Amino acid sequence: MLDRVIATPTSQDRTQCLVVGAGVVGLAVAWELAKQGLAVTVLERQPECGLGASAAAAGMLAAGVEAGAPGPFLDLCRLSSKMWRDWAEQLFLDSGVDCELQTTGLLRVTSSAESISDLEVRRAWQLTQGIDVSELLTLDQLRREVAGVSGTVVAGLLYPDEGHVHSHRVTQALELAARHLGVRIQTGVEVASVTVDRDRVLARTPDQDFEADFAVIAAGSWSGGLLAQLGVRVGVDPIRGQMAAVRLPPGSLPRIVFGDRGYVLQKRGGLVLIGATQEAAGFDSWVTLAGLERLSQIASHLLPAVGEAAFAHSWAGLRPHSAGGPLLGRVPASDRVLVATGHHRNGILLAPATAALLGQALLSGADSPELAPFSPRRVVAG
Ligand code: FAD
Ligand code: GLY
Repeated sequence: MLDRVIATPTSQDRTQCLVVGAGVVGLAVAWELAKQGLAVTVLERQPECGLGASAAAAGMLAAGVEAGAPGPFLDLCRLSSKMWRDWAEQLFLDSGVDCELQTTGLLRVTSSAESISDLEVRRAWQLTQGIDVSELLTLDQLRREVAGVSGTVVAGLLYPDEGHVHSHRVTQALELAARHLGVRIQTGVEVASVTVDRDRVLARTPDQDFEADFAVIAAGSWSGGLLAQLGVRVGVDPIRGQMAAVRLPPGSLPRIVFGDRGYVLQKRGGLVLIGATQEAAGFDSWVTLAGLERLSQIASHLLPAVGEAAFAHSWAGLRPHSAGGPLLGRVPASDRVLVATGHHRNGILLAPATAALLGQALLSGADSPELAPFSPRRVVAG
């Protein structure tokens, strides 16, 4: 399959691979395919790259708290987590942009005495998976890790390997790195349909049709319509996340503090992010007063100083959620169209592994075993 892909001639209007969507996932896939020598065109309906969910992300790389049980999703998160350092270094070399990767460690805290046993259960299975996690820590011990943890917190765990990146810098770096390798990125172009006609894929837009040997659909929360046309029976639902930021002196918050209902973390420049709501609100991506109230409560329950700090700004984004986890691999209708979406709360964390596995799948002609549990050909339960 690789020879065939590489040998296909390209022209201005026919490329080897079209990528629909220029969020972190589409850009990561485009960069990967370009590294493998493919001619790639990215089509993005917004005037700029990275304005979807990727613009809203807190940027946490937090497999230890995001994966709820052992299994393929945890394995994918851990694979990607391990890839992040080298990936960020390569991105810096290709783009000159520093993603601000910081391995700060993360405190998973709880304010509920009943939840302590949940933390202990989680810790027990995580140890069997080789995840680095501390013993259960008391409030005093947690305050030695992060001064000012709220007195309502009763216990917590420390995950020393978790950290975060600056999500805007990540999409900026990916865009520059991809362009540097010759990827064409066309913004302001909304794809209405993707169809397959024997040896070519056709992406229709209001002004123009684009032809390619392959296509990757990475349109985040808006992927559902395109995928349904290609026989995918798993939906993609938007889950709104509202966030707010306050200002504290840089270095005030040395670790991520992740509670029962939300989290706080500090970026290198000092901005402290408070996240996030999780709401099924359709495609409305605005901030609400009720959302801000929830974020204010999250801050006060984790670190009262954050609740008292100067408000900077707030925003919201739509996480692409698919039942059963991300959708990664070939669509039912054709081997020429692949999907990379449904990353929900973890698209930033999962970008390196997604790009590597999708790239491998496209070039080899077969989805790898790691992708099998996430196949867009899976049948919806119930
Ligand atoms: P998007 O970034 O939404 O990109 C999809 C792109 O496709 C958009 O630019 C859109 O305009 C374009 N598009 C859509 N339809 C079309 C079309 N028909 N034609 C052309 N273009 C189209 N993840 C983490 O790993 N760590 C975190 O800490 C984290 N925090 C989060 C906090 C919040 C509040 C939210 C909302 C999300 C968070 N996430 C986090 C999740 C992460 O942001 C998403 O999983 C990720 O950004 C999804 O990336 P994407 O490229 O699939 O989608
Ligand atoms: N991963 C954090 C969030 O989605 O809010």
